[in-house]
Amino acid sequence: MAQTMSKTRVPVTGTAISSRKRQWFFVDFYSTAVGKKYVMAISGIAMMGFVLFHMIGNLKIYLGATDLNHYAEFLRTLLYPLAPKGAVLWILRGGLIVMLIAHLHSAWSLTVLNRQARPVKYQSRRDYEVANFASRTMRWSGMIVLSFLIWHLLDLTFGVTNTVGTDGVFVKAEVYENVVRSFQRWPVAVFYIFANLMLGTHLYHGAWSIFQSLGWNNPRFNAWRRSFATAFATIIVVGNVSFPIAVLAGIVTT
Ligand code: HEM
Repeated sequence: MAQTMSKTRVPVTGTAISSRKRQWFFVDFYSTAVGKKYVMAISGIAMMGFVLFHMIGNLKIYLGATDLNHYAEFLRTLLYPLAPKGAVLWILRGGLIVMLIAHLHSAWSLTVLNRQARPVKYQSRRDYEVANFASRTMRWSGMIVLSFLIWHLLDLTFGVTNTVGTDGVFVKAEVYENVVRSFQRWPVAVFYIFANLMLGTHLYHGAWSIFQSLGWNNPRFNAWRRSFATAFATIIVVGNVSFPIAVLAGIVTT
């Protein structure tokens, strides 16, 4: 007997058919909590690299004005004459700005997502309190570091808040003199110290969480993760805090 078989396949009852339009992979991935955590972790790693190199570069302050100013000039003229003066620095700055925006956006949208739904309830009140404390700490320390960054750029990059030299003029290329002049104002030095302690807190929690966010959270590595987070945050804080202290103590002077 001839059977008439339909050529078009119909879904079996119960098969879920998504009405969502397929999007570009990254957009799809970023709409999930896992995707946002990846973006937060990767942008965090990039910025950790920046703060480490920035701190190491600034150690040249201990070698004196010529060395620090020469280093700043070296950064401005990276790969010159192969590339135009400043071009490589602007590419690096562009990458850093993209990383900062990605970090802020993923942090903000993860918070919104977490508030909207908490499908997995915390096992105990203590777990909830620990998680809540960590995320509150990250939010506050992050906002303080962000405000520090705005001040810092106005202070040492644009010179808007740093025109207190003997002649009252900010010369961008005189990096050493600008830093010393800035830290000789004790409220500014104290603010730098406080902001860098907050940065340390942020880095400690961040460096610890990176592995969790990327799915490398085998309990066997917990001791290693903690040591890494502690060492990284300590190195950055000790290095950065030493600059305003050295200026206040008169060890570094113009
Ligand atoms: C006490 C420690 C610090 C010192 C002495 C210091 C010093 C400086 C100086 C002198 C500049 C201007 C460089 C130039 O225009 O040639 C600068 C720029 C900058 N700093 Fe810092 N900094 C410190 C901590 C930080 C921290 C903790 C961050 C990040 C959270 C940071 C982020 C930046 C950024 C993004 C720029 C702009 C870089 C550019 O325009 O190429 N700095 N810093």
